[in-house]
Amino acid sequence: MKDYIKIDEWKIIEEGFDPHVHKISESIFSLGNGRMGQRANFEEAYSGETLQGNYVAGVYYPDKTRVGWWKNGYPEYFAKVLNAANWVGIDIQLDGEQLDLAKCEVTIFRRELNMKEGYLKRNFTAKTASGKQVEVEAIRFCSMADDETGAIKYSVKSITFNGEITITPSIDGDVKNQDSNYDEKFWDEVSKEARQDGGCVQMRTKKTGFEVATGMKFQIVGGEVSSEPIIKEKYIASVVKTQMKAGQTVTIYKYAANLSSQNHPTEQLSTLTYAMLDKVAAKGFDTMLAEQVAAWAKKWEHNDIIIDGDVSAQQAIRFNIFQLNQTYTGEDDRLNIGPKGFTGEKYGGSTYWDTEAYCVPFYLSTAEQRVTRNLLLYRYKQLGKAIENAKLLGFDNGAALYPMVTMDGTECHNEWEITFEEIHRNGAIAFAIFNYVRYTGDEAYLADYGLEVLLAIARFWSQRVTWSDDKQQYVMLGVTGPNEYENNVNNNWYTSTLAVWCMQYALEVADKVKATDKTKYDALVAKISFDADKEGAGFKDIIAKMYYPYDEKQQIFLQQDGYLDKEQILVKDLSASQRPINQKWSWDRILRSCYIKQADVLQGIYFFEDRYDIDTIRRNFDYYEPRTVHESSLSPCVHAILAAKLGDEKRAYEFYLRTSRLDLDDYNNDTEDGCHITSMAGTWMSVVEGFGGMRVRDGKLSFNPFLPEKWNSFSFNVGFRGTTIKVTVSKEGVRVKNLSGGDISIMVYQKEYNIFAGQDQLLKP
Ligand code: BGC
Repeated sequence: MKDYIKIDEWKIIEEGFDPHVHKISESIFSLGNGRMGQRANFEEAYSGETLQGNYVAGVYYPDKTRVGWWKNGYPEYFAKVLNAANWVGIDIQLDGEQLDLAKCEVTIFRRELNMKEGYLKRNFTAKTASGKQVEVEAIRFCSMADDETGAIKYSVKSITFNGEITITPSIDGDVKNQDSNYDEKFWDEVSKEARQDGGCVQMRTKKTGFEVATGMKFQIVGGEVSSEPIIKEKYIASVVKTQMKAGQTVTIYKYAANLSSQNHPTEQLSTLTYAMLDKVAAKGFDTMLAEQVAAWAKKWEHNDIIIDGDVSAQQAIRFNIFQLNQTYTGEDDRLNIGPKGFTGEKYGGSTYWDTEAYCVPFYLSTAEQRVTRNLLLYRYKQLGKAIENAKLLGFDNGAALYPMVTMDGTECHNEWEITFEEIHRNGAIAFAIFNYVRYTGDEAYLADYGLEVLLAIARFWSQRVTWSDDKQQYVMLGVTGPNEYENNVNNNWYTSTLAVWCMQYALEVADKVKATDKTKYDALVAKISFDADKEGAGFKDIIAKMYYPYDEKQQIFLQQDGYLDKEQILVKDLSASQRPINQKWSWDRILRSCYIKQADVLQGIYFFEDRYDIDTIRRNFDYYEPRTVHESSLSPCVHAILAAKLGDEKRAYEFYLRTSRLDLDDYNNDTEDGCHITSMAGTWMSVVEGFGGMRVRDGKLSFNPFLPEKWNSFSFNVGFRGTTIKVTVSKEGVRVKNLSGGDISIMVYQKEYNIFAGQDQLLKP
């Protein structure tokens, strides 16, 4: 754990330069706009430790699988979001001596991520080895208004230096991924051109053939300059020289654009890149920044959570919301949310079940309906590949198994116990459809897309279960639940519960669509050859005769068969020196232990909460929580929500703290790899569903809030079926303000209230 980030309501601030935390800061101070993003690498050269990262959404490379022992069914490759051309580079030389913070005496250093306005600012004063002293201010952002562009304003003020400054803005396509399996470079050069005031490099990904043109246009203010373009392999730059005196400032404005062949005709990429650069350079840095501020103001208007009385919590929740908005804007249904977003290479930038289980609730409440719809359509469009994927593993009749990890629908994961067995992800995809329709009321989605996905998933589960003669019940063999510290188990309660629910829901939706849109229903049944009577009867038989492990003595759902045989030493009795167990213990020891990586049974209780009475929830929570090590960042939020539901406000708050500052305080010692973007949605859930007690019941929003002891108040906005309300929980009660033109009926502490358009009501328990 670290605590070097300064506390501020709207800013993330680092003061003083410490190279040891530089990679962590590169993650935390990352920028993005949904279309492109980057780590907070320095503009000027840096010879210290760094993880360079510029990413273009949806552009990936299929890195050939590398495993020790090949298993049939393994995918050929792991799709990775690529480290793309570096567009931020601005090399600075002072009379030929390079400005490099790893080699300078840095007297003042401040990095600031302005979350309210969406930019990164860095100020420093540095003295080179030979004593030349300069002051630098660098401001940059990835534009939300023109989402294929970014802009930098980089000013160098001389303190003691009199001489020639050389400024070299560049586009460097000669980059690699640190996680490359075979130490290969993933890009080939297509073309490059350096101009007096900029230039462009066009690169093509090996194998996938995506092309990306990255261009720059710059302008220097503050002196007579001479400029000379240079070209190297995969690289263009301009060497700009001017004379400086002590007290003088030279500023470079650098505009950059990243255009991808996913969005533009390949043969026009560089022309269009130059046109885009002309467009933004004509606007100028200040106008671009003003548009950026306005775009973020609009986002915050709808998304902000305000916490009064705890600046650290305030900063943390805004950081989570900010990063989620930087990662995914919902403009494009080919894109998704990688667990690290644009902040690092880990997890390959690919899609996991995290999207459906954790991110969907966030976007449902904070963004327009189409944003979540696009996340669902992403999976709908990949249904064919999910069916192929299941076929490869021996399933038939249109059964679909969505991949554990994917970019374009093809499975990329290659550990058998997860690839073939962590199949609960299929259920999360069905659950997200349910969640979306429950929230938005958009039932038309079911007839158009949802039912087709649901039936394919239900078909998978119906083939994945086994009839046990011994039990005279269906069982689910050889699975891995969300708790990845148990592999190849039989009858994981969560997976079986979800599987049966999927079949039930698919049948329910089939009946609904048949009754409401017979034409579409008939067309679908014909398209996928669904035999409603025969297959439906098969599903129903499984639904009726499924086996779920249960412990009668303690009256709890059992995580899986045999769980009670394990040595039951609680986490609190485990010495701190043994944790995290995934870094301290052998894998074998972890597998045999009772320790739970992340919510598993409790994840199921969270999904299907309305089925269980409060005593059942409490018994299971009290049993599983003390055995959970929360070594996945996705875990504490579910525990926070359930603890809140159980009225355990203190523990709900403790779990919330574990997620909210996870990256800012580098709790897990891994922020340097990138931020935990998908679990940030879990932090939001802890506040809104945990402390706010928000649920959707019978087509209405319902709240059961409490105020964490340390806070004076907290408030959040949620959009629901065309209406936005602001909910403020304070010591005086719950204030609900209807910010829209239409009325809304909501439940607060089990009582129904009509909040008319524009009205503000104070409600008490
Ligand atoms: C978790 C998975 C999750 C993945 C990506 C793993 O550590 O166990 O549930 O999907 O990280 O966030």
